[in-house]
Amino acid sequence: MSTQRRLLVTAALPYANGSIHMGHMLEYIQTDIWARFQRSMGHEVVFAWADDAHGTPIMLRAEKEATSPEKLIERMHAEHLKDFEDFGLSFDNFSSTHTEMNRALVERIWSALKDRGAVRTDMIEQYYDTEREMFLPDRFIKGGCPRCGAEDQYGDSCESCGATYEPTELVDPRSVVSGSTPVMKKTEHYFVTLSTFSDSLKQWIRSGALQDEVANKLEEWFTDGLRDWDVTRDSPYFGFRIPNTEDKFFYVWMDAPVGYLASFMELCDRHGWDFEDWLRPGSNAEMHHFIGKDIIYFHCLFWPAMLEGAGLKRPTGVYAHGFLTVNGTKMSKSRGTFIMARTWLEHLHPDYLRYYFAAKLGSGLADIDLNFEDFRYRVNADLIGKLVNIASRSAGFIHKLGGGKLAAELPEPELQQRFVGEHPAITEDFEKRNYHSAIRRIMALADEANVYINEREPWKLAKQAGREAEVVAICTQALNLFRLLMSWLSPVIPHTADKAAEFLNTRLDDFSRIGEPLLDHAINKFKPLLTRVEEKQTDALIAASRESLSASDNTPNTEPEQAGKDDNMIQFDDFMQVDLRIARIEKAEEVEGADKLLRLDLDLGEMGRRQVLAGIRGHYEPSELDGRLTVVVANLEPRKMRFGVSEGMVLAASGEDGRPFLLSPDIGAKPGMRIK
Ligand code: MSP
Ligand code: ZN
Repeated sequence: MSTQRRLLVTAALPYANGSIHMGHMLEYIQTDIWARFQRSMGHEVVFAWADDAHGTPIMLRAEKEATSPEKLIERMHAEHLKDFEDFGLSFDNFSSTHTEMNRALVERIWSALKDRGAVRTDMIEQYYDTEREMFLPDRFIKGGCPRCGAEDQYGDSCESCGATYEPTELVDPRSVVSGSTPVMKKTEHYFVTLSTFSDSLKQWIRSGALQDEVANKLEEWFTDGLRDWDVTRDSPYFGFRIPNTEDKFFYVWMDAPVGYLASFMELCDRHGWDFEDWLRPGSNAEMHHFIGKDIIYFHCLFWPAMLEGAGLKRPTGVYAHGFLTVNGTKMSKSRGTFIMARTWLEHLHPDYLRYYFAAKLGSGLADIDLNFEDFRYRVNADLIGKLVNIASRSAGFIHKLGGGKLAAELPEPELQQRFVGEHPAITEDFEKRNYHSAIRRIMALADEANVYINEREPWKLAKQAGREAEVVAICTQALNLFRLLMSWLSPVIPHTADKAAEFLNTRLDDFSRIGEPLLDHAINKFKPLLTRVEEKQTDALIAASRESLSASDNTPNTEPEQAGKDDNMIQFDDFMQVDLRIARIEKAEEVEGADKLLRLDLDLGEMGRRQVLAGIRGHYEPSELDGRLTVVVANLEPRKMRFGVSEGMVLAASGEDGRPFLLSPDIGAKPGMRIK
């Protein structure tokens, strides 16, 4: 009998300014499987987390939508909550970092850090947008890369050559917020001196809380020396004001991890649990954080330092996972592989995704690929072909020949015992987050269970008079094997396990029952547990994801950049700025001296006439274009060319040999109509 543990389990808080996508779900499913597994082991589990509600991007997005940040985060909270519930996440509390509880905890930790002498101030110089009267975070400044010259790069790193640098090094810096040229401005900031915690951090890093590869990485950072952490953001900022300041706010990454504890504290208040006892150093309560590999620094240096500074317990475990790719590449909006949680739910069962992720997740930092062909194959072969099949082939006979009751004895208790004997290995896999290994073991057993049924052929025996008891015994055995498999899978596919529990008329999420078979036990009618995934469903999912392109939001997220964003994408707003109009080519003529150009005299209806120089000469006879309708970019800055000014651009597809194919609208379109 193992002793009961107390575990606080968290997943990284999603930013409140964007919708939940498959990348998030990889982490949240990983976390939920672990939480459910621990509950099935009989431990006391509290899964508490929140929305990460603060920061510049949320403030700016609210402004853009002409609403308040409070209203915006409330709306997003409701959306996130619904997504998580529908995916079957078993959290006890999903709060927000924007609560008074969190503010109080942040202030408590802050004053403890100050008391420890771990806070200093410094005058710094930062880019400032004089038009918007705000300091600019790195990701809100763009300019030329100081290394390779690539244009339009963020203030902290170049996506073209990978260089990292200071925003001050950018060539021709511009504010992303207003487009104006930022100026340098002085401001006083608070810093947490991480070096105060250097020794204890080093020791914590080797305490077994971290994956080896993470611990090694951190040690590298240590040898480079720990820089003090700037925890200040100037007003305007959506966050918590730093006590005793007028216009300074805590950086979002200061209050975000505290949000784990504030969310937990809400539960403590609700249920009368002892927060201080859980969080005191040396407490036997455990704290486990699941995170993506992009936020290791925050969770493995800043966060333990803050906790230690505040005299609180440091994490028992921080587990980083890799990134999700879809069909082998980074999630992409244009390919339809940037899939939102809601879009998935509209097309496919959540347990499919949960199962697939589990089948691929290990304890390391490797990236995980969601490949749709592989996905369909795994789900259909494993869940439908192997697992559900055991029950669907056995259930009927229990009702037909056994009066709906399982036999009083197992015909082959050794077989049952061999399955049960795998319990320690399977639970150890779950404990260590080697889900793929657990799934492999479970599916190998499912194969054996199917072999058992195939060899006994109960459907043949059922046709022979006097062998009813034998058939019921075989099916009792089969359903008991099924029950074991389903119990182990219940953290992974909880919706399906719930249905199976209903059918078997028993609980499946309690591992203490594993050793005792279900005998002489009434079961319920079997209802299909799960159906096959069809290719047309995954195709529809991808098509819908492509379509939702325009509906999604692309405001830059807080630093670090939101994962999974597609490099080649323009923002929806950028696209909307392009004014596309129907134009009638009133007259087309060759441009003297330019062998590629035609001069087009365009009628844009209410917008008047335009002259456009188009590089389509040689492919069209000017006269055949006269009177033809086409599409033109109407708000392109006029371009002075050697042969005159071009006041727009007509749209044409380009063939392999460079041959242009001028676009034409449907019949009935009128010059000047806007395309959107
Ligand atoms: N708000 C911060 C976390 C604060 S925790 C105190 C944040 N938010 S996020 O919305 O960008 O990401 C939330 C989690 O989802 C992170 O752990 C992140 O690594 C993970 N993922 C986001 N996109 C992902 C993929 N494409 N693949 C896998 N995980 C990804 O970071
Ligand atoms: Zn560069």
